[in-house]
Amino acid sequence: MKTLPFGLDIGATTIKTVWLSGDGNGFILNSASILPTPPKGMFSESPLDQEEMARAIRKIVDDSKIATKYVNIALPESQVYTRVLEMPRLSDKELSSAIYWEAEQYIPVPLNSITLDWLVLKRPQTEAEKMEVLLVGAPTALVDKYQKVLTMAGLTISCLESEILSAVRSLVVNPATDPDKAKIANEKIFPNTLIIHIGALSTSLAIINNGTIAFTYLIPTGGAAINRAIATDFGFSESQAEEYKKVYGVSTESLGGKIGKATMPILMTIVTEVKKAVAFYNEKYKSNSPIQQILLSGGTAKLPGVTTFFTQNCGIETAIANPWNILSSQQVPKEIIDNASDYTIAVGLAIRGYE
Ligand SMILES: Nc1ncnc2c1ncn2[C@@H]1O[C@H](COP(=O)(O)OP(=O)(O)OP(=O)(O)O)[C@@H](O)[C@H]1O
Ligand SMILES: [Mg+2]
Repeated sequence: MKTLPFGLDIGATTIKTVWLSGDGNGFILNSASILPTPPKGMFSESPLDQEEMARAIRKIVDDSKIATKYVNIALPESQVYTRVLEMPRLSDKELSSAIYWEAEQYIPVPLNSITLDWLVLKRPQTEAEKMEVLLVGAPTALVDKYQKVLTMAGLTISCLESEILSAVRSLVVNPATDPDKAKIANEKIFPNTLIIHIGALSTSLAIINNGTIAFTYLIPTGGAAINRAIATDFGFSESQAEEYKKVYGVSTESLGGKIGKATMPILMTIVTEVKKAVAFYNEKYKSNSPIQQILLSGGTAKLPGVTTFFTQNCGIETAIANPWNILSSQQVPKEIIDNASDYTIAVGLAIRGYE
């Protein structure tokens, strides 16, 4: 078994790491951990805050006994431009120049400040069909900041990608490119899945059609907005609100009913966008391949009652994402299993290139 770069997911509220070994025929978990993010997170431009971030990252790496300096890292979806493009069938060489013309149409800032990356999702057999390409543009200044902080933490970036790509990799098997794995995963993985990753500040959606990303979308709300709503309605501090949220979630009973009432409008904002995304998808795919399930990922997927809420309001069976399905049979500590949805992005990063 080979040691792989570890996955590092730096969120607004928590830092997650996952370190695996693998050989392409399965993965073994070496360590997984979560620590609070320092208050300014990666948002600050101040060298002092960046040093604090580097120290926090170093600490989580040391505490988790990660014995590689190579790291795969995700950039926050809210700060990158992600889009699935339909293009005529092109060779890689043709695509590498055509992509700039496409990017100019979709990225609303000058391209000389953007680092572009792309991935061919579908290259059709015939010229009549369209090729599908995932375009990701990240502000170069942001990429440089991540490089700087990680270098300060004594780490070397192997690869940088956008969060939603990592989440999809850990949760979805593509039956076309990976028929063996699809067969093994059979009952656990549906080729047409809607992933909803709800963090603290933002929510990312990805619709997967037959194992491939069809569409991604960002909603600028998440768990922190729920805390604020509860805090405002009850005159609580945000940390008190967080405690109540974790106990009562979207419950409609007794005291929980009142907390649930504060929580619901935030979740309904997400449901509204989900419905729009599903309508768009059904239009495009002419309902040939309806979405079979919703997977909820991120810290807010642990909100009590949230799966039932989405099942009822979206009319699609909803479950909590479990990225640990990628592991070979192995006993994983209960705490890590119980918090599975926290690790989706970090797992996707940790298996990159070896899935
Ligand atoms: N048991 C729980 N019930 C409900 N919400 C929870 C629970 N545990 C964590 N959360 C919420 O999940 C959110 C944190 O999720 P996560 O760690 O995925 O976000 P992040 O990565 O720090 O943020 P972002 O991705 O937006 O930068 C917080 O708002 C937190 O209150
Ligand atoms: Mg996050």
